Formats: sequence, structure tokens, C-alpha cells
Amino acid sequence: MTKPNLNHAMIDGPEARAAQENADRFGQMGFNDPAKFFIAQQYDGYSDENQEVWQNLYDRQMEFLAERASNVYLDGARSIRLVRDHIPHLDGEKSINQFLMELTGWQSCAVPGYLPAKAFFACLAERKFPTTIVIRSRETIDYLPEPDIFHDVFGHVPLHADPVFADFLQTFGRAALSASDERDTVRLARLFWFTVEFGLIREDDRLKLYGSGLISSPGESRHALESPDVERRPFDLDRVCDTDFEIDHYQPILYVLDSFEQLRDAMNQYAHRILETTGI
Ligand SMILES: [Fe+2]
Repeated sequence: MTKPNLNHAMIDGPEARAAQENADRFGQMGFNDPAKFFIAQQYDGYSDENQEVWQNLYDRQMEFLAERASNVYLDGARSIRLVRDHIPHLDGEKSINQFLMELTGWQSCAVPGYLPAKAFFACLAERKFPTTIVIRSRETIDYLPEPDIFHDVFGHVPLHADPVFADFLQTFGRAALSASDERDTVRLARLFWFTVEFGLIREDDRLKLYGSGLISSPGESRHALESPDVERRPFDLDRVCDTDFEIDHYQPILYVLDSFEQLRDAMNQYAHRILETTGI
């Protein structure tokens, strides 16, 4: 796969190649340690353009989200000190991980590229979120063919500061890691898509955004809330798990939570079923 638009020098090198190999071979003999998937952020690798792109995206999106994102997301963004001035530091003093560790024990861990599904789930099961560290270029600011740090940190990580969502995501990881039935794997992928990536929630009688694919997308966030072409269904885990999703255009169907407790409780029940059959 060609990846022309991201600053890949930051994720090229022996450390990154070894990490990727550990992830790609996860599950084979001797390759079972998620800690070996991770790399350093190499913060000096960010260019001035990279920092400007972050600021630009942050400015565009945060003002819009102030009235339209879930309060849980906004509180999380504040508590991990997500700011416009610079791309977030993952490591060291005042990094987002310092704040996250105190709040929920989640950590945002740099990875060199895509992780195979089971490797990704193994990280979630340990409260570690595989995090892309590169950022899109100025030319591709509106079009993102693959996750970058704006999607992964701005879009995903604030919710990890919330204890209820934090528990949900770990339980999801444990269940998905141990699921051996192909049907469960497909159903769990749909659940992730319609909640973590594209979820809506009702708060104070208004629709709010929380899915990272919406939070980090200026175009789709508006469409999700305002378009008459979107069917917004009340969340029901079995119905979500039976719904196919499409990846190359704005979502025509979205699911709306009443609360994150609803999501956590539904996931607990589903996980219980899976973990019972696998005996883990
Ligand atoms: Fe995502």
C-alpha cells in the first residue's frame, strides 16, 4: 500500500519495523506481547507544517464541537489537556498519558502502522490504545484515507478519560480478543463501527456526537447531526450487530445511545456470552 500523504520518516526505521513485525505475527509462537508493538513518538520529527495542520484542524473542529459533542467527550478533552497549540505529547511530564493514567489507567501508545485485528484487540484488553502518530499534510487536510494522530488522539482519546467508556472499551477488547466464532468477529466489528467510530448520544434532549469518525471530521460531523438523509436509530446491541456498514461515504445509518452506561452494560452482557463459551 502506498502512503504518500503522511510524514512517514517518523515511522520508518529498525524500531518501527520490529514493532510492526511483532504486531503482524501476533498469535504465533513467541509473538504475544502487545508492549512490543509500540514505538517512541520521536516528537522532534514533527515539522512546522505538521503543527500548523494540527492547529488548523483543532480550531475548525473544536468551536463546532463545543455545542455539539457529548459532554463526556468535552470533559475528557479538558481533563487530558488537549490543546490547539501543539500536537499532543504521548510521553513524559504533562503528556496526555500522565493525565489519563490518573483518571482511568488508559494509555495512548504509538504504533508504526495498522495492527491486525487480534493485535489491536489485545492492546484494548490491556487499556492501551494503538495510536497513529503521523499527521495528514496540508494538501490532504480535508481528505483522510487512513487514521492519523488527529483522528486517533483528538477523535478517540478524550473518551478514554471517562471511567464508564474506559471500562466498555476494555471489555470490548477482551471479548474481541477471545472471540473464536467468525460470526462474533463480524458482529463486534459492527459494534465498534457504530459506537466507537460513528456513535451519537442523546444528552439533555439533544443529539450529540461522540464517535471518533464524526468528532474528527468537519464534513461528516455536520452531516450526522443535520442531514435528513441519515436514519438515526435508538441503540440496541443486537440490532447494531446485525447492521452492515459501508466505508467509503457518509454513513446513512447511525445509532443513538441514551447513556454510556447503556453501552457498557450491553457490552458486559455480550462479553459474558463470548467469554463463557471460550472459557476465558
Ligand atoms: Fe478510529
